[in-house]
Amino acid sequence: MRSPAEPAPKPSAQLTLVSVLEGQAVWPPPMWLMRQAGRYLPEYREVRASVGGFLELCYTSKLAAEVTLQPIRRYGFDAAILFSDILVVPDALGQGVRFVEGEGPRLDPIGSATELACLNPGATDGKFARVYETVQRLRQDLPRETALIGFCGAPWTVATYMVGGQGSSDQAAARELAYRDPVTFAALIDTVTDASIDYLDGQVRAGADALQIFDSWAGNLPDGEFDTWVVAPTRRIAAELKRRHPDTPIIGFPRGAGTNAGRYVKATGVEGLGCDTAMPLQHMRDLADREGVAAQGNLDPLLLAAGGPKLDARVRETLAAMRGAPYIFNLGHGIVPHTPPENVARLVELVREGI
Ligand code: CP3
Repeated sequence: MRSPAEPAPKPSAQLTLVSVLEGQAVWPPPMWLMRQAGRYLPEYREVRASVGGFLELCYTSKLAAEVTLQPIRRYGFDAAILFSDILVVPDALGQGVRFVEGEGPRLDPIGSATELACLNPGATDGKFARVYETVQRLRQDLPRETALIGFCGAPWTVATYMVGGQGSSDQAAARELAYRDPVTFAALIDTVTDASIDYLDGQVRAGADALQIFDSWAGNLPDGEFDTWVVAPTRRIAAELKRRHPDTPIIGFPRGAGTNAGRYVKATGVEGLGCDTAMPLQHMRDLADREGVAAQGNLDPLLLAAGGPKLDARVRETLAAMRGAPYIFNLGHGIVPHTPPENVARLVELVREGI
């Protein structure tokens, strides 16, 4: 399947991440890591300890910009991802989001039309504005050659937290509500979709070069439900962003989509596809060749944590499989907190060799 295409020279005038999302095979590929700012870095833990809550860090532009820059200084990644969280959207909608140390997010669950009516879609501006300020700071402080990625959670994934009140391994509460009361669930998805369009639009206006839509819980859904709750809202977000900002590429990350990934790409019109750890390399390559999408991923974050010769071998295998295709090196999911920073340094070295 592999095309013998000559890798394009690294353009100097344009961000490599954007070139790849426009369909060019840049080599060595641009790289960044999901959750590249975070607890595996001592400098992050230091800043984190200086503020009370995690969301306070997200809303304090100066500090959020600082932690975004930390992994860029240390490793020189080709892209920085705005430091924020997908749960900023429900928080801004008035649901009230708390992060419990060692346990994760907690929200007052929404399970009925009455509870849904407590959200206040008109009230998001104040909190969103603090995130836009972070983006503005970053566009000024980042090296010119580093792309800035803005993001939001996909409506389905955000809704699983809003309905469940916390994370879960099967998203049972949201799946059941979607069957039991599809009218209320659709209204919730619409509310989150509208707010997410607004939120991404603000990030692009503030200086984001590309966007990623995190659908971390896109697996687990039967195909009809996948089309209704994953594909359709993502398509609406992508279409509206494209209408407003035709030059800003979008990466979709439907984690766990499996054989639905091709349909997702075709139907949503995203330029980039985030691939999870379970996607075979050959399938990732086929999607790039056949669907004309830039592939991103999919190193196992636990292999990065483990390090050693298996890490070297898998990175080389991944690079060999993707050479000649539009490809962005990344993990298949977020970096885990106990990852040794020196393993990340080794990974950067390997990818830059571009073997
Ligand atoms: O570096 C980056 O990637 C940018 C920042 C970022 C965070 N969260 C920071 C964060 C991004 C892009 C996210 C996305 C996010 N948040 C997702 C989608 C990606 C994924 O990992 O599946 C999801 C599902 C969330 C919701 C969320 N945020 C959970 C479930 C948790 C708790 C689990 C945990 O790791 O603690 C968070 C907290 C969170 N978001 C942390 C960070 C750095 C850790 C909190 C801390 O530092 O105290």
